Amino acid sequence: MTSTAGKRPQNTAFGVDIGGSGIKGALVDLDTGEFVGDRIRIDTPRPATPEAVADAVAGLLAEAGWSGPVGLTVPAVVRNQVAVTAANIDPAWIGTDCRRLFGERLAVDGSPRGVSVLNDADAAGMAEAIYGDIDADEGTVLFLTFGTGIGSALLYNGTLFPNSELGHLNFPAMDAEKWASSAVRDREDLTYREWARRVDRLLQEYVRILNPAQIIVGGGISKKHHKWVPELTVDAEVVPATLLNRAGIVGAAVAVHDDMRP
Ligand code: BGC
Repeated sequence: MTSTAGKRPQNTAFGVDIGGSGIKGALVDLDTGEFVGDRIRIDTPRPATPEAVADAVAGLLAEAGWSGPVGLTVPAVVRNQVAVTAANIDPAWIGTDCRRLFGERLAVDGSPRGVSVLNDADAAGMAEAIYGDIDADEGTVLFLTFGTGIGSALLYNGTLFPNSELGHLNFPAMDAEKWASSAVRDREDLTYREWARRVDRLLQEYVRILNPAQIIVGGGISKKHHKWVPELTVDAEVVPATLLNRAGIVGAAVAVHDDMRP
């Protein structure tokens, strides 16, 4: 972690990653992709309605002492800054104008705060492409997160094609994330090898239609990549993500810095 002692990097932005169990935020040095100071984590409120989450984020920013613009991730499709799906979050998010919600609830001195809101996997994939150890900013890259659901980010030469939602491909004959997410492995008590066979089939389907040069696998289970990535036979280079739980925050910070509005 970068020390803030005495010198704060010039090129910084604040990112917040909203997940099912925790909301995490930090100031990010955009030259390095490292945090400036500590990451702050608070529990996601229950129920995780848009208003409750926005108020929790306000608490996090107050704790961080940050009053500037903020990038935020949500585990949903964000179209023109409006959340339009809610596969693994409170259904009240559907139709929520995130820019307005966060702008108003995070207002500074009565003025709406500048925010950029984007899909969590898109943020993480973008961060990997820019700051990851892997050479992921060239060609077509498919980034996937395996967790409660399956998130995806599609990148070409480091540029994001947002809201790809490949975890919801009907494969094989059902919502893919209900068959091959990390949560499904736990729920069905699958061995890594059994689960890897499912992931392999799914990746083959992705490769058949998208032809990525590289597939980056993220999410908590990517820490155990040695247990399952070697089992994959798919015809693409599959590499584990390197930023891990830093990726969402960093991607959110990049989004607000670039004033992205997917
Ligand atoms: C959602 C995606 C999200 C992914 C990971 C999926 O269920 O549809 O939008 O990126 O979970 O959180």
